[in-house]
Amino acid sequence: MSTLQSLDVSGKRIFLRCDLNVPLKDGVIGDDGRIRASLPTMEYLLAAGASLVVGAHLGRPKGEIKAELSLAPIAVRLSELLGRPVIFAGDNFQEQARSLAPGEILLLENLRFNAGETSKDETERATFAGVLASLAQGYVGDGFGAVHRKHASVFDLPALLPHAPGFLVSAEVEVLKKLTQNPARPYGVILGGAKVSDKIGVISNLLDKVDVMAIGGGMVFTFLAALGKDIGNSMVEVDSIPVVKELIARAQTLGVDLRLPSDIVTAPAFSANSPATIVSADDIAEGSMGLDIGPTSAKDFAQAISTCATVFWNGPMGVFEFPAFAHGTKVVAEALTHVTGISVVGGGDSAAAVRSLGFADSDFGYISTGGGASLEYLEGKALPGLTALGL
Ligand code: 3PG
Repeated sequence: MSTLQSLDVSGKRIFLRCDLNVPLKDGVIGDDGRIRASLPTMEYLLAAGASLVVGAHLGRPKGEIKAELSLAPIAVRLSELLGRPVIFAGDNFQEQARSLAPGEILLLENLRFNAGETSKDETERATFAGVLASLAQGYVGDGFGAVHRKHASVFDLPALLPHAPGFLVSAEVEVLKKLTQNPARPYGVILGGAKVSDKIGVISNLLDKVDVMAIGGGMVFTFLAALGKDIGNSMVEVDSIPVVKELIARAQTLGVDLRLPSDIVTAPAFSANSPATIVSADDIAEGSMGLDIGPTSAKDFAQAISTCATVFWNGPMGVFEFPAFAHGTKVVAEALTHVTGISVVGGGDSAAAVRSLGFADSDFGYISTGGGASLEYLEGKALPGLTALGL
């Protein structure tokens, strides 16, 4: 396997692809976990005598320049964390890159401001990759959260330069390998989050690998609807009901311990102050919506987690941003901190959730920086950004 140490970087300009896609509101960074996770590779490269051209994306500007998605605030935070200046690229970024001295860092503006970054047209992508390649003499891929994207800076660019994975990408792949190749048993997966349609692939792929699967979050109401229960105004993806029915039946055939909530915290409206009521999952009233799993279910999920030697968790159990609906997510997070085997929290959102609820990164076995990327890895898909790095 290619490693960062095997790449000759001394005195060279290295293009470093990071995932710096952090929650940002009015220029204020909500959770800088992804910036911190990028530091070890940067520090190694700088100490090894490289200069860095850092490329990253923020949000989905779809090829347009959007001031609110500028990486400028990220340059400031990165500079604070590294304790050295970070030059933020201007229109003359090519000249700025060429004049970098060893130990200097240039952060490019949001790569997705250029339509070539995300284009489905290979030629358009190749043209943009060519521009990026002209900035550097080597490439390091460390943006794990974006490795599932066939984008110019992730997929096309490494082919144009000597390349290697960064420490973050290597570490993420090591951990995910432990989940896919012979995981210690019992193996449990806890899934939450809003959209069931995003998770069908991973649920389907994991059903014949796991011993326990617990489902919460907004997506659970499609499961409850598939079981014929009334779900009031809770969110539901009607189109996914038939495939969810099949998944439930398959879980049964395979003997997977599929846990769905038996109680739900409901409210009349999607708002922090809407009055919360705990009801049976069989009894969600018309006009109310489920915003969290109930306390009995949270206990049940925690008990399931406590029996597991390997646990992967992706997606909050409820609307954890509203304190009245954060209990389920908190209980599941707490249970994960007691796992003595491997516990992995997958995804930028889940990572931000556990941090905002007061947990420390060190409370968990591993916090993955990639939500979509880790799910697609577990689905068994080939990820373009890993293939490009020979991983
Ligand atoms: C993420 O936030 O999961 C990554 O940065 C990828 O972002 P994307 O889903 O917009 O490609």
